[in-house]
Amino acid sequence: MTVSERDPVQQVEAAREAFEREFERFARFIGDDVSAVGLSLKEAEAEQHALAELRARHTGKKSALAACKKLIGRVAPEQRAEFGQLVQQQAASISESIEQVDQKLNSLIESARTERDSIDVSIPGRRPRPGHLHPITLMRQRIDDIFVSMGYIVEDDREIETDFYNFDALNIPEGHPARDTQDKFYTTEGFALRSQTSTVQIHAMQRRGAPVRMIAPGRVFRRDTPDPTHNPMFFQVEGLCVDRGITMAHLKGTLAEFVHRLFGPETQTRFRPSYFPFTEPSAEVDYSCFNCGGKGCRICKHSGWIELGGSGMVHPNVLRAAKVDPEEFTGFAFGLGIDRTCARIYQLDDIRLLFENDVRFLEQFR
Ligand code: DAH
Repeated sequence: MTVSERDPVQQVEAAREAFEREFERFARFIGDDVSAVGLSLKEAEAEQHALAELRARHTGKKSALAACKKLIGRVAPEQRAEFGQLVQQQAASISESIEQVDQKLNSLIESARTERDSIDVSIPGRRPRPGHLHPITLMRQRIDDIFVSMGYIVEDDREIETDFYNFDALNIPEGHPARDTQDKFYTTEGFALRSQTSTVQIHAMQRRGAPVRMIAPGRVFRRDTPDPTHNPMFFQVEGLCVDRGITMAHLKGTLAEFVHRLFGPETQTRFRPSYFPFTEPSAEVDYSCFNCGGKGCRICKHSGWIELGGSGMVHPNVLRAAKVDPEEFTGFAFGLGIDRTCARIYQLDDIRLLFENDVRFLEQFR
């Protein structure tokens, strides 16, 4: 027996039963059933999709209900009104059930979307940790400022050098014992990491000729084993002043002014005779301790004096190497340790602290 041959009323019954069987899974979306509340946005959207398919299956053109509607015209005239009503009621009841679920799903979807898009303003924010300059950079900037205010330019030059700039041009010929005291890191093809910023004296004079007044802060490298007072990489600042009639008095006056500005006007300087191949005469420079004023304390190791660096009058051979005429020009030069000075000022008993980049240490210089 085919569907169309069955009793029309039975067909309507069968259509309703088929709908109700499938609709059962949506029953939880009617009324106040709380199990529907925890649905995720994705789940609710999937349910709505399934509901749309159910609607098409049970109310669409090819549905059993549509077939029942077609039967209305075929039933006996005296039963037609009653049968027509039955089909209409059935259609209305199916539509209403679906509509109820659809509305519920719409509101679930909407609140899930609102939830997804909203921000909880009460959650504590993620604070970016502000950075700050490294103590060596701070120190270098203070040194730069002082010399710039005295009319010096700041040169920033290469860290990889040939032996010509690191040694020969600085009056340290091959075989000279001074080469051994600055054991370098060699790379390939005659290049090496510079062991002193004095290299920049030559570059600056070659570039600018004379007169010239410059400082050159930067990294230098030596094959040292790290210990509390040594590191294979450290910072120096080189100074060079070349002009007509420059004397040792200018050197002394310049460095005295420098320590006055860095440590205070009461600071004394002391020059001790020394030897550097690139200066003649040469001197080591000390300044009176910024902490005890020269009486002696832990910082100056009870001597009252702290070493600043090396200095001297530029050797004529150095001027010649940079094509500056030593008959016309004279000059002075000096080299100071930036990190050494930094370690003294902040009383660091281990210079390696400055290179390990432990934020717990660095944060103290904010
Ligand atoms: N280049 C020297 C060093 O690394 C420091 C130095 C001494 C630089 C005397 C100078 C100077 O310019 O005149 O030990």
